Amino acid sequence: MEKKQKGNFESSIHNEEYYTRFDKRNLNHTTMICTCGRKTEKLNGLWHYTVDQYDVGLRDNWHLPKGINKDGEQPPWDFHPEQGETAILPGCWNVIKPQYFYFEGCVWYSRKFLYKPLRKQERVFLRIGAANYDTKVFLNTEFLGNHYGGSTPFFVELTGKLKQENELLLCVNNARTVDRVPMRNTDWFNWGGLYRDIELIRTPDIFIKDFKIYLVPDDTFSRIAFSVEVSDKSIHDSVTLTIPELKITEEFALTNGIYNGTIAANPGLWSPDNPKLYDMEVCFRDDMVSDRAGFRQITVKDTEILLNGRPLFLCGISVHEDDVFMGKASSRDDLQRRYEHARELGCNFLRLAHYPHHELAARMADEMGFLLWEEIPVYWAIDFANPVTYGDAENQLLELIHRDFNRASVIIWSVGNENADTDERLGFMGRLARKAKSVDPARLVSAACLVNHEKIRIEDRLTAFLDVIGLNEYYGWYKTRFEELEDLGRNSHPDKPVIITEFGAGAKAGHHGTINEKFTEEYMEHIYEKQIGTIKKLDYIKGMTPWILYDFNCPRRQNKYQNGFNRKGLIAEDKKTKKKAFFVLQKFYREKRLK
Ligand code: GCU
Repeated sequence: MEKKQKGNFESSIHNEEYYTRFDKRNLNHTTMICTCGRKTEKLNGLWHYTVDQYDVGLRDNWHLPKGINKDGEQPPWDFHPEQGETAILPGCWNVIKPQYFYFEGCVWYSRKFLYKPLRKQERVFLRIGAANYDTKVFLNTEFLGNHYGGSTPFFVELTGKLKQENELLLCVNNARTVDRVPMRNTDWFNWGGLYRDIELIRTPDIFIKDFKIYLVPDDTFSRIAFSVEVSDKSIHDSVTLTIPELKITEEFALTNGIYNGTIAANPGLWSPDNPKLYDMEVCFRDDMVSDRAGFRQITVKDTEILLNGRPLFLCGISVHEDDVFMGKASSRDDLQRRYEHARELGCNFLRLAHYPHHELAARMADEMGFLLWEEIPVYWAIDFANPVTYGDAENQLLELIHRDFNRASVIIWSVGNENADTDERLGFMGRLARKAKSVDPARLVSAACLVNHEKIRIEDRLTAFLDVIGLNEYYGWYKTRFEELEDLGRNSHPDKPVIITEFGAGAKAGHHGTINEKFTEEYMEHIYEKQIGTIKKLDYIKGMTPWILYDFNCPRRQNKYQNGFNRKGLIAEDKKTKKKAFFVLQKFYREKRLK
């Protein structure tokens, strides 16, 4: 006779199927809603948290009520939502205390909140700005679903499930696995946590679910395209678009809940030198969303990148989301400092590597006049043959595009970084590139490709799917024969623009020596001088984003100069101490911007 298993504990320790119950991945780009200009109620602040290295919470159903069970017994429990330690969210658990720095696994966050309806038939959504990596959401002991992806926002509808007092329980798992995006091997720190805003959003019963607007890239600079989608496909009502400064107030009829169309307009064109933005509103019945967006055209012609029809050179720098105090969390001040350093360098462009950065980054770039490369973390040896992994990558791409579509500063969607040119990778990333082009006709698509080192030239089958070729090359660092960069230049004949998306060298700030001593500032400075001297002679290179603005946390970098940091930053991890190479790049960009 099979031994009757008692309670949670005994049944759970023999069950390794526990994960699938909580892995619906139902929170994805299809469940996103438009939040532009909506009032939100922040749930940031003090949360309880409990680390859970063995997934005990999922095995033992920590989300279920504590107390008397169905057999009338009160078994002991190892977790109580209000008895954990507390931390301020948004934030990364790695920086809360030293013993959690390298923690990888599940952390359970919980807090209570009060809810009172503000109008009849309102709908309520929880929005998480980002959580790394798999986030399972429980409300009042009910599992509502989970989201995959460490750097994009997601939504959970709470309508009809809210009481006066509610308990939210979020289980965040940052484990590195071979089938995630990124997979388990990267060159950056695996921060964990709910590290961007947590907020509630209320909407009318039928509401504006999506609103996209852009300048039609037809070289006339005289037509604005915009689309609105409402939450109910049966609606044939109308919406109104208002852009006061352009004297636009137009009503448009929805068909099956959607309007897609263009209107004549002559907006002042957005550019880094003139970051002109327009306030706009979209109204539908008693719902209204608003945005502050710019109009610009970004296209390519032969090997030129054209902004508003004029060729430009992208004077850029790469950046990670990484901070010694905040981990992967961002603040307006941190982003302001990033852009001020980029301005001081003479940049008009930044590569937000290797994953979607905080949405504030693009909003501030819109205001301050920086062009942006945004990227999904299809990084290195992704499980390219796995259709589930593809679905994860595509979902992250679509969530990023949904979030930042109206941001004029974003000119390039990158579908990945440094992936070997295999058939599976070509299929996977070619499909991502086509997907990006199909949902966004107003931007360029690229990827950071590798040099074909056998032929010493730019040759990667993925480039056929790209508008702009990104190229990472480390001549003078990983490739010791620097003269090969000259060979690469001569051997390559790309028919589209190339951006050198990475070059660089490591140096510990304050460590000095000769130009032949790796990890000295002088070595790094010399590499920048040689790289720039060579790159500027290649007329198909139309931009560069050297690696990288700041030193950053990186577990794989452990020699005596690195001590857990990647030291290719032009500025040390204190985000203050500049290295000599900073001024080499600054000089080049100043000359370039004067031309
Ligand atoms: C690669 C990679 C970066 C990495 C850099 C380095 O090109 O794209 O993520 O940090 O090289 O080795 O420092």
